[in-house]
Amino acid sequence: MWFAQTIFEYMQTWDQLFLDVNIATMCSGSTPYGAISNGALAILDKRIAWVGPESGLPSYDAKTVHRLDGRWLTPALIDCHTHLVFGGDRAMEFEQRLNGVTYEEISRAGGGIRSTVRSTRNASQSELLESAIDRVATLMREGVATVEVKSGYGLDRTTEITMLEVAKELEQNCSASIVKTFLGAHAIPEEFQYDTDSYIDFVIDEVLPEAFERQLVDAVDAYCETIAFSSPQIAKFFEKAKSLDIDVKLHADQLSDCGGAELAARFNALSADHLEYTTVTGVEALASSGTVAVLLPGPFLILGETQLPPIDELRSNSVPIAIATDCNPGSSPLCSIRLAMNLATSLFKLTPEECLAGVTRNAAQALGLLNDRGTLETGKRADLVEWNISHPRELTYWAGINQIHRLFINGELVD
Ligand code: NIG
Ligand code: FE
Repeated sequence: MWFAQTIFEYMQTWDQLFLDVNIATMCSGSTPYGAISNGALAILDKRIAWVGPESGLPSYDAKTVHRLDGRWLTPALIDCHTHLVFGGDRAMEFEQRLNGVTYEEISRAGGGIRSTVRSTRNASQSELLESAIDRVATLMREGVATVEVKSGYGLDRTTEITMLEVAKELEQNCSASIVKTFLGAHAIPEEFQYDTDSYIDFVIDEVLPEAFERQLVDAVDAYCETIAFSSPQIAKFFEKAKSLDIDVKLHADQLSDCGGAELAARFNALSADHLEYTTVTGVEALASSGTVAVLLPGPFLILGETQLPPIDELRSNSVPIAIATDCNPGSSPLCSIRLAMNLATSLFKLTPEECLAGVTRNAAQALGLLNDRGTLETGKRADLVEWNISHPRELTYWAGINQIHRLFINGELVD
């Protein structure tokens, strides 16, 4: 009687239990991929309640037991940099670039981001939502459960707010979780062509406060570049964001060294993204501010860039590296996180383990969500993918073959 009672007291009660499974926890520092072979993972109340070798399981009672025949579990994937809400497309510019016109030339002639701004302003909210749902669904089919979505193709008060509302509606329409980033300082709209400072003031004084008030802003972002905004202009914008206690991130040093990494570091940015022209000083600044480097092989490939981001310096300074699609109609018509991983090996020589960490642990950190997701650890959200693979390196090795078996978001199977 006493014995039975003790067993009962120590018995773990779980909603779901995965057995006969290999687990790439993606926790750093232990085994490669944080791997546990012959593991077990339990879920209670949408959270991971237990993970470890099956041989170490305590006595348990589980409502549902999944036997995985040796399949692999990884954290669900995270796309931490996208612009997937937009109107129209820029296939014509894509063709022009292949005929020798550069991205900057197109931009200076009023095309580029501004052309998407025109199409986005002309689209209805439901058109924007419908096309964005398709893109999120495409990412989810590859195991993505968290998607960051930026505004930045409105550049006026109404359309910027509409884009963020669409991002919010996306979350209600898809089971993925959506992180909303206000990118009001993405490009200079035509109406402010000769007065960039006034545009920044308008963003600071009118658009950001309204978007914030409506709870549409999880973070802010800006484009630091000769064709966009200067460091002092962005610093002013970031100061306003910080005064509202909003995290910042930056499109930094994509086409030239503008001191973007240093600027991001000065504001303790969550991430600095692109970084092709970042110098060693910039990398050191990122290391000291704990900012994640988000590398984007999509625009690197599509824009025919040859200047590589400072990968060895990022590694030697232990700057966490994330990878994202940068899904957008101009510089990165790429809506596949798996292809982004694969391209990061061939273009940036990242290892398969760095690529998987780049779309799990480090992508979560880039969104300020590492305490909540990004690795398979007790207490974290039960966002996980079950794969038909015999080793997690295969997730980067294959492009075009989707070995996904099942995706669970918040402990729920996604159909
Ligand atoms: O991340 N660099 C600036 N923003 C986007 C480009 C968006 C566009 O070309 O429409 C990027 O590459
Ligand atoms: Fe971008």
